[in-house]
Amino acid sequence: MSYAEGAATFRAATDLYGRFIGRYAASLAAALIEAVGIEPGSRLLDVGCGPGGLTKALAAVVGAENVSAVDPSEPFAETCREQVPGADVQVAAAEELPFADDSFDGAFAQLVVNFMTDAERGVGEMKRVVKPGGTVAACTWDYAGEMTMLRAYWDAAHEVAPDEAAQADENTMRYANVAELTGLWRQVGLDDVEGGELWVSAAYEDFDDLWAPFPGGIGPAGAFCAALEPERQEVLCTAFARRLGDPSGPFELRARAWYAAGRA
Ligand SMILES: C[S@@+](CC[C@H](N)C(=O)[O-])C[C@H]1O[C@@H](n2cnc3c(N)ncnc32)[C@H](O)[C@@H]1O
Repeated sequence: MSYAEGAATFRAATDLYGRFIGRYAASLAAALIEAVGIEPGSRLLDVGCGPGGLTKALAAVVGAENVSAVDPSEPFAETCREQVPGADVQVAAAEELPFADDSFDGAFAQLVVNFMTDAERGVGEMKRVVKPGGTVAACTWDYAGEMTMLRAYWDAAHEVAPDEAAQADENTMRYANVAELTGLWRQVGLDDVEGGELWVSAAYEDFDDLWAPFPGGIGPAGAFCAALEPERQEVLCTAFARRLGDPSGPFELRARAWYAAGRA
């Protein structure tokens, strides 16, 4: 599989992503930046920028002219360029970063390491392009536990299509717990490695607002939904709503991500 293929399930329209995971992106970026810390005036890289939630937050601290971002998905890179004018946004994968050694003071990846085709190589590349002493940091969802939206969805999917869900459930992805994530950081030779949890939440107008992007095929959860015939999509939708307490109006869902940070 090519590095670009790892991004295949995120090729759908970027507005779908905004309604799906994008609504968590700004608050997760703020939590990651707070946990790790950023010096004003630093040159920073956002790896797997998507439509630019973290890129925008980094640019707010250090200025867009000090931020580069990459994503293998062209539509996402294009949206990121529009969202963060002045940032250098390129189409590239983590495993082959188009930058010289020691180009940045910090490299970040939000909700990306578990999607990398070769995470050891991708994080190794992040380390290579960061100056000695600079920061390499990333976060991934707690798919197995407290990412409420995705956990409830996959638990419903196991009810409706157990065999298919056993293959597709994102809790089988690597680097989605703090031990494995910090282990990877040590494995690539980063120093002073630390890890922890980040808590965020997202607001929904109603259950339809939550459900709307799923049949569009966005991300692994959407791809699973889109592959079901319409009757089973309906059953999945009902089971998903039930697992969230059948909300009848506006509601919020909490989500936990794990992060790792270390020095190059
Ligand atoms: C869940 S999205 C996260 C996007 C963004 N960082 C955010 O927080 O909204 C995962 C992103 O990883 C990108 N991606 C997938 N494989 C990648 C790779 N090998 N290197 C870099 N980015 C990758 C996808 O294209 C997608 O934009």
